[in-house]
Amino acid sequence: MESRGMDLGSLEITGGVPLHGEIRIQGSKNAVLPILAACILGEGVCVIENCPQIKDVADTLEIMRHLGCQIQCAGNTVQIDASGVSTFETGGEEAARIRSSVLFLGALLGRMGKAVLPLPGGCAIGERPIDQHIAALRQLGARFYLEEKITADAADLRGGQVYLGMPSVGATENAILASVPAQGETTIFHAAREPEIDELCEFLRRRGAQISRTPEGDLRILGGRRLGAVRYRMKPDRIVAGTYLLAAVATRGQVAISDFPCQELNALTTVFHDMGVSTICGEDRIEVNAERPLRALPYLETAPYPGFPTDLQSPLMAVLCRARGESQICETIFENRFRTIPELQKMGARICAEGRCAVVKGVPALVPAGLAAPDLRGGAALVIAALQADGTSVIRNTGYIERGYEDICRDLRALGAEIRWSDNG
Ligand code: EPZ
Repeated sequence: MESRGMDLGSLEITGGVPLHGEIRIQGSKNAVLPILAACILGEGVCVIENCPQIKDVADTLEIMRHLGCQIQCAGNTVQIDASGVSTFETGGEEAARIRSSVLFLGALLGRMGKAVLPLPGGCAIGERPIDQHIAALRQLGARFYLEEKITADAADLRGGQVYLGMPSVGATENAILASVPAQGETTIFHAAREPEIDELCEFLRRRGAQISRTPEGDLRILGGRRLGAVRYRMKPDRIVAGTYLLAAVATRGQVAISDFPCQELNALTTVFHDMGVSTICGEDRIEVNAERPLRALPYLETAPYPGFPTDLQSPLMAVLCRARGESQICETIFENRFRTIPELQKMGARICAEGRCAVVKGVPALVPAGLAAPDLRGGAALVIAALQADGTSVIRNTGYIERGYEDICRDLRALGAEIRWSDNG
């Protein structure tokens, strides 16, 4: 599966065009990554439809091939036969490169009773420790030896009470991946509530697992059940959907997203309401119309689901650069997720960051500039900023954007944007 676009390429964007139209959204990156890890559990061939063709998926499939999986890709359909999995070491530089490789910790313990992975480094947005992952897996019987690699073994993974110290998405997913094959019942207390977690559970149920969410939001798993084959279609990516809706609002356009569960973006539609954007939320469709001037947001903080998603913080900041008045955004999830600010300031944005909060004073216009994507969602934020500027901006380091957006150029052109890939990196 090849990712779209060019690693060292760049994007050329001529702004000032209000986006109009209706599009569908690629499959979810943050749901498919744990689901791919889940494919090494049990028997039977897993077929994943609507799988996004993004770099993180391509890297994950490389890890799975290294483990012994037979993988066939045809467009957005991936077929995985994990019967040949023969090693518990992820190896390879892909595992060191992508943070989500840590999800093979739970899956390999579940499949092989042992796991050896590179220590997942921090990344652009923060240190990204895995203490919650380790604590959760220890509560299921795993033992850890942390030298230059993560080495874990669990001769007999057993179900039990897993208490997460915080609603970590990845730690919740690792606990699920290990407790499904473990003998006995597991309850995961303070489990994360992101829709991607529920999609992982739905995928595993379709294979035969018994997983339910209690009214309090905890996860209950009856482990040790046989997992069989499945053909599963990925749901749309809520962060990609939110990015494109923010791009529509930034350009004062009118855009709809079809076949999308509007309620997954309630936190964003609440923000749109506060900014004076008319939003129509249907059963499986969402439409925004931002033809009026945008109001600033006096205060907003990111939070675990159902709070405002940290992954849309930078894209929202790019929109607030031209809202009327002063906005304040506080990033409570990651410690280094304001790296887009210096790039936005090159375009004339008035932003001042103090610790975890940033104050954005709206300006009438942004000017085009040569920009460098600092990370995945920061890159998407720069695209949104460039769509507002009167003139042509160039964004390099587009490899970050390709990690999560199948083809941001194709999607935004479908809404009328003047954007193209270019090879002057
Ligand atoms: C997932 O990352 C997503 N990635 C992130 O999306 C998303 O921003 C994040 O959840 C929060 O929603 C994938 O699903 C592949 P966490 P994850 O564990 O699991 C700290 C994107 O742009 N923490 O909920 O790593 C951690 O440092 C990416 O698509 C610990 O301290 O998120 C962070 O500050 C970026 N110890 C906070 O918790 C741990 O053991 C949230 O992390 C684990 C996490």
